[in-house]
Amino acid sequence: MSSIQSNDEVPVRTLPNNERIKRLKDYFCEEFGCEPKFFVRVPGRVNLIGEHIDYCGYPVLPMALEQDILIAAAILNKPEVHLRNINNKYDNFKMEVRSCEDLNIIPDSNGKPFWYNYVLCGVKGALEFLNDRIDSGLQIVVDGNIPPASGLSSSSALVSASCLAVLYAQKVPLSKTDIASLCAKCERYIGTQGGGMDQAIAFLAQKNCAQYITWQPLKATPVALPENAAFVVAHSISEANKAATNDFNRRVIECRLAAKIIVTRAGAATDKKIITLSQVQSKLDNSLEDMVKLVYEHLPKDLYTKSEICEILHVNEEELEQLYLTPNTSHLTEFKLKQRALHVYEEAQRVEDFRKQCSQIVSNSNGQNGVNGKSNAIVCENGDGDDIINILGNLMYGSHQSLNELYECSHDNLNHLVNLSKTMNVNSRVTGAGWGGCIIALCHKDKVNSYIDMLIEEFYSKYCKIDKNKARSYVFATTPNHGAEIYVN
Ligand code: GLA
Ligand code: MG
Repeated sequence: MSSIQSNDEVPVRTLPNNERIKRLKDYFCEEFGCEPKFFVRVPGRVNLIGEHIDYCGYPVLPMALEQDILIAAAILNKPEVHLRNINNKYDNFKMEVRSCEDLNIIPDSNGKPFWYNYVLCGVKGALEFLNDRIDSGLQIVVDGNIPPASGLSSSSALVSASCLAVLYAQKVPLSKTDIASLCAKCERYIGTQGGGMDQAIAFLAQKNCAQYITWQPLKATPVALPENAAFVVAHSISEANKAATNDFNRRVIECRLAAKIIVTRAGAATDKKIITLSQVQSKLDNSLEDMVKLVYEHLPKDLYTKSEICEILHVNEEELEQLYLTPNTSHLTEFKLKQRALHVYEEAQRVEDFRKQCSQIVSNSNGQNGVNGKSNAIVCENGDGDDIINILGNLMYGSHQSLNELYECSHDNLNHLVNLSKTMNVNSRVTGAGWGGCIIALCHKDKVNSYIDMLIEEFYSKYCKIDKNKARSYVFATTPNHGAEIYVN
């Protein structure tokens, strides 16, 4: 490891010697006729609690997965990007990358992004950051093992890995928090208005602890998890690409409109800077509980039409579109504001409650809870771990119900998985953006195997009619992993 490197930068490590690296290296040599110069690894993530609230300014509680995007790269002496994916279902791609302005990221004719658009998002963001001062390009081979369109952040990992590769090739030193913020911006070039959770955890994750992520300034605080708890990720066999529909952005703008209306009706109208529901809370200096009451008071209706909203905010339709909507939501005519705002304020409270429970857990070695890599043994000082698992589990189940009923981003398959889990007293919830993808379940360590067996039998085999051996690849137990890194020979 380089001696001048600061702790806050993405670590540069010696290339590990394993089969996957060897295969990627060989593939690179075959495709490009030269050896890769460096590798970038960015993990996927699973969010334990705090869903659809990062873009409202509220803390979230994710952890990094072992599954990742690994890219091998070599520097080209002209400003071009040459792309390959080790999985040959993804086409080769080549593009000149002189300026950020000229780099257009266009989806296919159905509005679905091409796989390489995520790489281009990372490149575009890096170009913008560098003010287009770039004289070289990159040859890249991507090897990913995060299931795509599953709410485990495969797309963000690809965007982030690509951006990091360009910056590393250009010798730009950046702190983890700066690059995480830059990558959050990059991903919005795909068209979705994400909140930054995926990029934050990708860079700030640490082994053996989840992270409590707070915004402005971006900060990650390690959170210990109960020693006797296991986290299981199970795929619902229904995929959802959030950039291919307007579901995600619709929720983002419903939250913004709710924020504007609450603050207007609460009599603090003139502040243009207020965009998020958390800014409204700060402005009014209220507790989350009081914010819930204010939602019922100021947003009593189940549905708001565009013209009603215009009237409340004293704008015309054109202004509404310009000020609040995105290109793929400007045609919408009805909005659910009460339901979305209620979810956000109540979910923010669940995150605080979850974190409070976890704060009773301390490491039995040195109180650092695996942060220094010495120990991952975690014990509970107050009460027993089973109580904590029950409390955390109930918060997760509450989150799921809210996402299903108020936020309407679940899916029948996800609900089925959650209900099946309940039959074994395991609590779970949809994780990530939703509308498909995965659940995250919190289960007692002793129960993990029988829980997974039950899902394989009842969900994958009986309900989805999937072969039991194949089903094993859709469900796995996981522990918190470390964040992004660069490898050099
Ligand atoms: C996506 C976004 C995140 C977050 C989640 C929902 O993953 O990229 O920023 O909003 O959805 O919690
Ligand atoms: Mg994503």
